[in-house]
Amino acid sequence: MDINDLLAHLNRGEAVEGGSELHQVMIDLSQKALKLTAKLNGQYHTPEEVKPCLACEYCASHDGQCVRKDAMNTWYEKLIEADMIVFVTPLYYYGMSAQIKAVIDRFHAYNAKLVGNKKSMLLATSYGADDWTMKALEKNYESILSFMNWNDAGKLFATGCPVREVIEQTNFPNQAYILGKSL
Ligand SMILES: Cc1cc2nc3c(=O)[nH]c(=O)nc-3n(C[C@H](O)[C@H](O)[C@H](O)COP(=O)(O)O)c2cc1C
Repeated sequence: MDINDLLAHLNRGEAVEGGSELHQVMIDLSQKALKLTAKLNGQYHTPEEVKPCLACEYCASHDGQCVRKDAMNTWYEKLIEADMIVFVTPLYYYGMSAQIKAVIDRFHAYNAKLVGNKKSMLLATSYGADDWTMKALEKNYESILSFMNWNDAGKLFATGCPVREVIEQTNFPNQAYILGKSL
């Protein structure tokens, strides 16, 4: 007996009896489905993923080495060398997205090597377009810059843009181009 027998049985509207051969087919299939789901979930974790800071303070006693071994280890050197850090994020509940916040929190291990002598920019999109829509994000960005001792080189807030197709119809991409060219 296999999946075809089970489907034919179910299509006839017949119940599957507990302990029957068909019941065993159902159990085997659901186990296979679980394994496949676990495999797919595992693959969802891409090599580029940056996991959240554990606040374990391993870095404090290990010369700034982070205990987590993920994509952030390749970013640290690039971040330290960079003249400029550009934060690009959609507005999520009036702050940065969780993905970029995870990267910023992981600055913690290498903070001493990251502070000072850098420029920074903020590019953000949002659905809302009220005069206060970007206020909290802007304040957050400015506070990070004060703490890191980095200098703001420009901010661009593409408000009223729920999806890519909308922003492409606006002047915001051109403004981003001009901002980049102004450096
Ligand atoms: C989880 C989530 C939270 C959001 N929170 C806000 C919000 O607080 N304010 C707002 O105006 N738009 C909010 N939005 C809308 C996005 O900021 C907006 O669609 C953005 O332009 C998406 O950019 P993207 O196409 O790069 O993902 C939210 C969207 C999502 C998916």
